[in-house]
Amino acid sequence: MSLTKEQTINTIAPVLRMRLTKGGQSPIIRFTDKTSVPAMSLSLPDAADDNAVIAAVTKTVEGASDVKAVAVEGVGAFEVIYAAEKSAGRVAGKVAVVTGAAQGFGLEIAQDLAAQGAYVVLADINDTEAKKQAESLQKQYGPDRAMAVAMNVTSLESIQAAINETVKTYGGFDVFISNAGVLKAESVKTQPEKDFDFSTAVNYKGYFLCTQAASKILAAQHKADPAYLSDIIQINSKSGLVGSNRNFAYAGSKFGGIGLTQSFALELIEDGIKVNSICPGNFFDGPLWSDPDNGLFVQYLRTGKIPGAKTIDDVKKAYEAKVPMRRGCTTPDVMAAVYYLIEQKYETGQAVPVTGGQVMLH
Ligand SMILES: NC(=O)c1ccc[n+]([C@@H]2O[C@H](COP(=O)([O-])OP(=O)(O)OC[C@H]3O[C@@H](n4cnc5c(N)ncnc54)[C@H](O)[C@@H]3O)[C@@H](O)[C@H]2O)c1
Repeated sequence: MSLTKEQTINTIAPVLRMRLTKGGQSPIIRFTDKTSVPAMSLSLPDAADDNAVIAAVTKTVEGASDVKAVAVEGVGAFEVIYAAEKSAGRVAGKVAVVTGAAQGFGLEIAQDLAAQGAYVVLADINDTEAKKQAESLQKQYGPDRAMAVAMNVTSLESIQAAINETVKTYGGFDVFISNAGVLKAESVKTQPEKDFDFSTAVNYKGYFLCTQAASKILAAQHKADPAYLSDIIQINSKSGLVGSNRNFAYAGSKFGGIGLTQSFALELIEDGIKVNSICPGNFFDGPLWSDPDNGLFVQYLRTGKIPGAKTIDDVKKAYEAKVPMRRGCTTPDVMAAVYYLIEQKYETGQAVPVTGGQVMLH
């Protein structure tokens, strides 16, 4: 079966990225309709499938030195951009996509990855805020180092469009962090069906849809270089490991996410993709808890969830007291797990708790 133009781009760019990797650092591959730099030209066989495309691209660039661009008849051109200086850091030169990156954990994860040398893609349904945050990272690290894409993780079409944009800008990606998540806490006796469906669609089905779209690019990279491994990391929750009172829709979707992680891991390792979850404890400093108008602390204070609590601080102390380490989870705690999973080449299908001892595995 022949490929569409988007599928052709999504096959060529990852292959170029892998094949033109030098000294462990991959170039950015930028798709353009026309290129002003000298290009090698390539024509694809009629009705080429992905194997034929990979073979044709490989044959064209193999042994060539200093490839600046590859022009593909009927498709467009792929510019090859090496970083002027080799970036430093634990994920130097990697491309990372983070969903739900406009605020909260997602934003701070993207910021930390950028600080550690990655190119980051901030994907969010709130694309205005994601764009603002990406611009601030561009100012800090350089114009190539961050981009924002609009993505609704409940829509495959929207996810695919965001992935296409990422591939056209960077040529592929190495780490996909499925972080976007929502919470609607209520008693099982009263929660409207639509609220249950909302949590399930974002937290559970969204993870499936993202993995379906992302894994194709990661698999294409592995096909081009069978020694290459990539990562899908789901930001799960301690509520994916133990039940959560009056918060069953969230906990159920997160438990389900661990089933997906284990199952994806079994299947996708043949494509060199490791799939793992991280299960953080409560992120009290993030907007979900600390937003002064709608955060969970104010909500719990208003609804009297903590008997005797008179201030937000009383509510916070009550929650901190549930944690053996007596504090909430922070982004640096989560990042230690993210870097462990990326650097660990011999683990997949795991759920790594980061809960200050609040949840212990058995
Ligand atoms: N906050 C916590 O205490 C905590 C604890 C453990 C795990 N987590 C998990 O961490 C992740 C991030 O949580 P947070 O507290 O930072 O949340 P948050 O509410 O602060 O941010 C969530 C982000 O996801 C985006 N988003 C929502 N729906 C989306 C959709 N359909 N498509 C794309 N983006 C969408 C939002 O616009 C927002 O930018 C979630 O998966 C959550 O379950 C949070």
